[in-house]
Amino acid sequence: MNRKKLLVTGGSGFIGGNFVQYMVNKYPEYDIYNLDLLTYAGDLTKHRDIEMKDNYFFVKADIADRHAIISLFEKERFDLIVHFAAESHVDRSIADPGIFVQTNVVGTQTLLDASKQVGITKFVHVSTDEVYGELDFNPNTFFTENTPLQPNSPYSASKASSDFLVRAYHETYNLPVNITRCSNNYGPFHFPEKLIPLTISRVLNEEKVPVYGDGKNIRDWLHVIDHCSAIDLVLHEGEVGEVYNVGGHNEKTNLEVVKSIINTLGKSDNLIEFVEDRLGHDKRYAIDPSKLEKLGWIPTYTFETGIAQTINWYLENKWWWEQIISGEYVNYFEKQYSLK
Ligand code: NAD
Ligand code: DAU
Repeated sequence: MNRKKLLVTGGSGFIGGNFVQYMVNKYPEYDIYNLDLLTYAGDLTKHRDIEMKDNYFFVKADIADRHAIISLFEKERFDLIVHFAAESHVDRSIADPGIFVQTNVVGTQTLLDASKQVGITKFVHVSTDEVYGELDFNPNTFFTENTPLQPNSPYSASKASSDFLVRAYHETYNLPVNITRCSNNYGPFHFPEKLIPLTISRVLNEEKVPVYGDGKNIRDWLHVIDHCSAIDLVLHEGEVGEVYNVGGHNEKTNLEVVKSIINTLGKSDNLIEFVEDRLGHDKRYAIDPSKLEKLGWIPTYTFETGIAQTINWYLENKWWWEQIISGEYVNYFEKQYSLK
């Protein structure tokens, strides 16, 4: 019997990297291809424990390179696609939106064309709750799959555009798709430009932690492994054409998140430095995950167990993040913040 071929795009980044490891270990009967351009956000060192496995393959390519993508799809005839590859950082999209349109919109359309041309069994497009815009601070309001899309940043606008293309390829060409929209992830291999790994790495180095505005904006945090299990479920059991929200009801203000990390590491709140607010800063995100729960999804981490596991991971894996916070990252950090 032929082995199933699963293509994961962006499998050298944070969530895609965790997903590739999760799938390679869980499904030895699948051949799993990680396609990644290895931008500043992607690295192969995170895969040193799986790179020798027989069911893992790496392809370096740009998802927006039409010739390379169509040739690869014609050669490999993938059954399943899980599409993570993207420019993912809101602050970078505010500074330079163009690459977000190129990768997130043109890249997604290229993958959709290749999938349509060769025929696939399922295309899961990994999107974000940010496409819904922002909620107010009323704790009884949530994003559902029927919330209208009202993206506020160039990043979320590019993701919403890609969601519309995925939907259109299903409606027009019957491409078997799902869209998942997840809240903020955290966990191992999270790139230290994002709030949680930035805070952990800076607190460990006794450096100031930049908090935007008054620190009262709310995010709904989900451990990356719970996101991986959600995507696995949608890939295998999701009803074709449907959208699924992913989130675990873990709402926290940014200040609560930063203080919990500082306290766990036994350091002082004096490390917090309030800095200029992000432009167009969304107030609150909160997910209603009931549709996915009805499909059988059960998250395993609370915020408290997940953040403890994550802090431990950063303590035990300095080799990974210390190589990242040097080089290009230093230039980025100096440009983005006026901290020492
Ligand atoms: P990331 O920035 O850590 O990783 C992105 C990966 O995509 C990197 O490995 C990068 O090299 C690769 N990539 C970028 N441009 C590429 C291109 N043109 N061709 C091929 N590969 C390319 O991102 P992440 O945080 O892991 O997010 C993954 C996906 O999940 C994104 O689509 C993002 O929108 C979505 N998402 C993220 C979160 C979150 O909290 N991080 C939450 C919900 C949804
Ligand atoms: O909601 C899902 C989204 O979560 C994903 O689609 C994005 O790819 C991912 O980057 C994340 O977006 P956010 O903008 O919410 O994540 P970030 O870690 O950049 O910021 C989290 C909150 O912390 C946000 O309110 C801004 C604030 N913040 C962030 C940074 C980097 C600070 O206060 N200081 C900082 O230095």
